[in-house]
Amino acid sequence: MPDWSTVKASKKDGYEVPPLEGSGFGVRLRFVSDDIDDVLDVFRRHTEPILQIFYAARGLMVVEGMQRFRQRPQALVELSRVFGSEVENYRQTLTTPRFFHHSVDEILILSNAPPCNHPPPPKPARSGGRLALQFPAQVNWHTDQSYRRPPPDITLLLGLELPPRGQGQTLFADCSAAYAALDRALQKRLRGLHGIHAPSWVGRSRAAVERGDTPLELLPHQLPQPHPLVRRHPGTGEPALFICEEKQMDYVDGPVAGLEPGPDGQGAAMIRELLAFATRPEFVYVHEWRPGDLVIGDNRNLLHCATWYDASAYTRLMWRTTVMGNPGEEYSGEVKSWIPRDGSAIMAGMENA
Ligand SMILES: [Fe+2]
Repeated sequence: MPDWSTVKASKKDGYEVPPLEGSGFGVRLRFVSDDIDDVLDVFRRHTEPILQIFYAARGLMVVEGMQRFRQRPQALVELSRVFGSEVENYRQTLTTPRFFHHSVDEILILSNAPPCNHPPPPKPARSGGRLALQFPAQVNWHTDQSYRRPPPDITLLLGLELPPRGQGQTLFADCSAAYAALDRALQKRLRGLHGIHAPSWVGRSRAAVERGDTPLELLPHQLPQPHPLVRRHPGTGEPALFICEEKQMDYVDGPVAGLEPGPDGQGAAMIRELLAFATRPEFVYVHEWRPGDLVIGDNRNLLHCATWYDASAYTRLMWRTTVMGNPGEEYSGEVKSWIPRDGSAIMAGMENA
């Protein structure tokens, strides 16, 4: 693992990389100028060192003061291209239009306000007045769109309207550190196993199976997808756990291929154990949002989780872009599993997602 502090960055380059407090991973990126053109110029001129810093910080970067992107949404897409060769176009991937920006198809809107009307995450359990971090007290841990092959590489989140401090945080868990801390016998057992990931709204989640829901009939491009439980990061070579919350794995045929399926099977027990281990407080960073924060997280080796906020009192508005193009050897040469080849329209059940 390279040491990001050795990558030269100083005010004369237009940016600095002070440490990110409160965790063993992640870094801040601070610009001398908050002018969007200056920020883009620094990213373009220093792409390589900034990516080195990002990977060495295990894929978590916090950039402050980026609220000016609200007036320049296309510029957020340009910045996203620094992190991957392709930025997802949500219109092309058949996302319901009210969930993405009215003029920039690459920006997904996450908000409790109309027209999105996303409900807030469930209220977190608290112990001793502190926010619960660890699964299963905290239940929303996931990586974005893991029901696709190849899955996306990196997610960029821009906080624009936010509830007060202490609500609506985003948690990140370092799954490469978690994997390294597992005992050798379990590491060996996990290598070669695949988790099966499925959209939360197709009736294959743990809760849906426990309720006895009938799973939706899925078109070929909507089917659950397997991923290695341990992925090797293409940028750093580091192995990391790749798992998801119980909503986003398949409890009909999985959640672990080849192990006893279903909510009470061996596979379910393994996923619960791994989720609880990876989200232990020593592996978790809690991001308390301030307007204009741009938080960049690597889905290949981090889990993340949004926490509860009082949606009756506050609006939360985030913009999200997702970049892809470097998922690692496992996915070499694959076509995108989620693109329909038969002219079919919207994702089944997407209105309820
Ligand atoms: Fe997410």
